[in-house]
Amino acid sequence: MLINMSEYDFSSVAAVTPASKAVAEPFPIRPAARVSRLPPYVFGRINQLLYEKRRAGKDVIDLGMGNPTDPPDPMIVDKLVEAARDERNHGYSKSNGIANLRRELAGKYLKKYGVRLDPETEVMTCLGSKEGFSHMCLALMGQGDTAIAPAPYFPVHMYAVALAAGNVITLEVANSEQFLSNIAYTCRHLVPTPKLLILNYPHNPSTVTVEPEFFVEVVKLARRFGFMVISDFAYADIAFDGYQPPSFLSAPGAIDVGVEFTTMSKGYNMAGWRVGFCCGNAEMIRALGVIKGYYDYGMFQAIQVAAIVALRHGDAAVERQSAIYRVRRDALVDGLRRVGWQVTPPRAGMFVWAPIPEPWRSRMNTMDFAMMLLQDADVAVSPGSGFGEAGEGFLRMALVENENRLRQAVRQIGRCLEKPANPAKAMPSASQP
Ligand SMILES: Cc1ncc(COP(=O)(O)O)c(C=O)c1O
Repeated sequence: MLINMSEYDFSSVAAVTPASKAVAEPFPIRPAARVSRLPPYVFGRINQLLYEKRRAGKDVIDLGMGNPTDPPDPMIVDKLVEAARDERNHGYSKSNGIANLRRELAGKYLKKYGVRLDPETEVMTCLGSKEGFSHMCLALMGQGDTAIAPAPYFPVHMYAVALAAGNVITLEVANSEQFLSNIAYTCRHLVPTPKLLILNYPHNPSTVTVEPEFFVEVVKLARRFGFMVISDFAYADIAFDGYQPPSFLSAPGAIDVGVEFTTMSKGYNMAGWRVGFCCGNAEMIRALGVIKGYYDYGMFQAIQVAAIVALRHGDAAVERQSAIYRVRRDALVDGLRRVGWQVTPPRAGMFVWAPIPEPWRSRMNTMDFAMMLLQDADVAVSPGSGFGEAGEGFLRMALVENENRLRQAVRQIGRCLEKPANPAKAMPSASQP
């Protein structure tokens, strides 16, 4: 049977090679253009040196990746073990998640943010928020569509749109008022107007936070210019000094224009479990469901059962984890200031975003400075340039090592920075690609 796909714009699928053309010789493997168009992995050099140092027996303090190192609350793990022993939990699950988990998440939104959600149509589970975000971009974006994303950018915010064949315009996120007026300017001048706005507060990597009024303005702009909104709320659960990160969905009318992704990776220390959620506009969630229906069969049911328990009884554990990050933040920020490196303490999230101090700032690029810290101080950090041009001149340090290790990191960094900056050593590699 020959299937006519032409009406679906699946034109490349229709190219059929007759069996008689089969070749005996090895042939070059040619991945799709979308793969070769992705840029090389920016953290590759850092990771290679980190690997070599560890193989040589060096104790490297790793503040590179935002991968939580603390365990989930034992009651959550116990529930997982119990649910894994239940033989009814081993088949395919539903790709939008079991009803009780969606209900529990809707309950959390009502209690924490005063947002009422229909668990049937306005909540969906994802295999981590990154999976949900990427597939939402595939569900919404296509050739000729443009998304606005924050700069510096968490790589997925840029490349999930690119993988969906869409275009991305990045706008600087540092000043929220300016960011809003740049969105309006872009919408007034771009034809066709952007289809999607991607937001991420508390922002990774820059740690910028906003107040609820910001989202009220975003909804007004979305209505005026007709763009959809995705709010990536990955750091909803980690905040300090009385600050409560607001939910985009609590702005009036937000549910008419957008969705919000949350995750159990960060606040609940369940990063490897891959539990994320998409909440908000039912039409957007329906479109995501269509895509996910083709790609996956949902999350291991035992994990979903344990996630219900975590959401229902985990508030205290989440608060404890936030307090741990606050202590680490203070240890790192105070320590760096003592060695002469002025950094601003973040109000939320699990990172410190630090401008490279002078005289290094004017002599080295960000990648070389990060390599110097790894080479000479045995401390791994993420160079800001890994988050696009707007990140140049900054480093991101993840608060994933304990307080003592962070103090040790500060001592090692301090000793490294006491050495005179050596342009003769730094400059040649600064010009490397
Ligand atoms: C801004 C942001 N969004 C999404 C994610 C991915 O979270 P998840 O583990 O739910 O896929 C991360 C993880 O680092 C993140 O920093």
